[in-house]
Amino acid sequence: MVSRVIPVDTFDLVIFGGTGDLARRKIFPGLYRRFMAGQMNDASRIFGAARAALSEQEFRDQIGAALKEFVATDRLEPEAVEGFLARIFYVPINAREESGWEKLKSTLRGDVVRAFYFSVAPNLFPDLAERLHAHGITDATSRIVVEKPFGRDLASARALNEVLARYFHEDQIYRIDHYLGKETVQNLMAVRFANILFEPIWNSQHVDHVQITVAETMGVNGRGAYYDKSGAMRDMVQNHLMQLLCLIAMEPPYHFDPDAVRDEKLKVIRALQPVPPQNIVRGQYLAGGGEGSYLEHCDNPDSRTESYIAMKVEIANWRWKGTPFYLRTGKRLRARHSEIAITFKEPPHLIFDDAEGWKENVLVIRLQPNEGMHLMVMIKEPGPGGMRLMQVPLDMTFATAYAEAAEAAEDVPDAYERLIMDVIRGNQTLFMRGDEVEAAWAWADPIIEGWEARGDKPQGYDPGSSGPEDALMLIHRDGRRWREIK
Ligand code: BG6
Repeated sequence: MVSRVIPVDTFDLVIFGGTGDLARRKIFPGLYRRFMAGQMNDASRIFGAARAALSEQEFRDQIGAALKEFVATDRLEPEAVEGFLARIFYVPINAREESGWEKLKSTLRGDVVRAFYFSVAPNLFPDLAERLHAHGITDATSRIVVEKPFGRDLASARALNEVLARYFHEDQIYRIDHYLGKETVQNLMAVRFANILFEPIWNSQHVDHVQITVAETMGVNGRGAYYDKSGAMRDMVQNHLMQLLCLIAMEPPYHFDPDAVRDEKLKVIRALQPVPPQNIVRGQYLAGGGEGSYLEHCDNPDSRTESYIAMKVEIANWRWKGTPFYLRTGKRLRARHSEIAITFKEPPHLIFDDAEGWKENVLVIRLQPNEGMHLMVMIKEPGPGGMRLMQVPLDMTFATAYAEAAEAAEDVPDAYERLIMDVIRGNQTLFMRGDEVEAAWAWADPIIEGWEARGDKPQGYDPGSSGPEDALMLIHRDGRRWREIK
């Protein structure tokens, strides 16, 4: 099974921060793959914009080098690379100065989709928005794409929203959370809302608890300065884990339409309960495995920023009251392993004698690696020996189809590719609305303020482990256990 490619309209896409890390690692390689797949047509153009005084050729050379580094070798066909690079242009521009903008304006076409990707530090968003508007480069049909972090608390997120709203309507603003572009995350919506099977049991009467894990093996080296001002709560929970939680917990929207979906997500965020300190465990990785500790990586021996967080979150609404959601994410853990696991309750009455062999049904949605889903079910242990029970994974038919598509790896767009194509299509379903971001900060702020006011210090954990000891207690005291990170 190969994924269907639907070409998008002709576009002019300007990437501010065009020489930056994200552009090199994700945006240009992603666009190249879409070009290869035939989704981006020959008339579309991509402009890198940055402060460096580069010639067009120098910029193309940089992008050519980035493709070599970040695109699989068997996908680098010289003709395609040449064709792609011919569609790339460079505009030297400084967000805080006036020069360059008129040239940009005269270069862009009026009759194609115009999109502007702000792949820069958030403190430049206001300058970019203002200059694009002041020079008449954008109109009511233009789109802007903004990267996270979208603020560092409610006040700053609100201020950003206000500035952007001065120049753009909400339906022109695409706030990226790349987790929403992941294939499996979208599958979660398909599985929930295109099947009758799950909905009747998708509630606290039948779901014992939910675990959301995003474990990484990498540390923060190289990004220590940014990360230390942020921490796992701001970097991962307020956005990525929150979005996953919303997709599991939301009510069925009346239609798969951007505002219908986002209205339902917003209701979930607003129903989140404050999290008391005893339901949070924060950690910092120690030195080990030939690498330095978190404190060394962020070059701040007094840092109280967490590189790991685990928390028990509750949603106060009819569907979920009584079902805890356990979230955890961290750096330098045992494996790169991200999944959502929905554990169901036990049957009302067990008729088999093999009570010990019995285990709960668990629906596992695996984000990475090996994207896919499986449902753990009980069956009879094969062969003689009486009625003994065993748990096996039930591979849903789509999982096989999905694996085949995934084998043709490059045909399944990665998160950034998909999201950029959605910007060109004008589809905001997988982007965060301003009120959603603000609601998420409104929930996160008091939690962060709480540990800051108390001066809580994160607990050390060994690299390659599954996190601090106390995180085990967080779930054990409820008579449950974390799923293995492997
Ligand atoms: C980013 C965070 O948003 O997501 C990083 O800033 C994190 O700290 C990354 O490593 C994880 O993304 P993924 O897609 O690799 O799980």
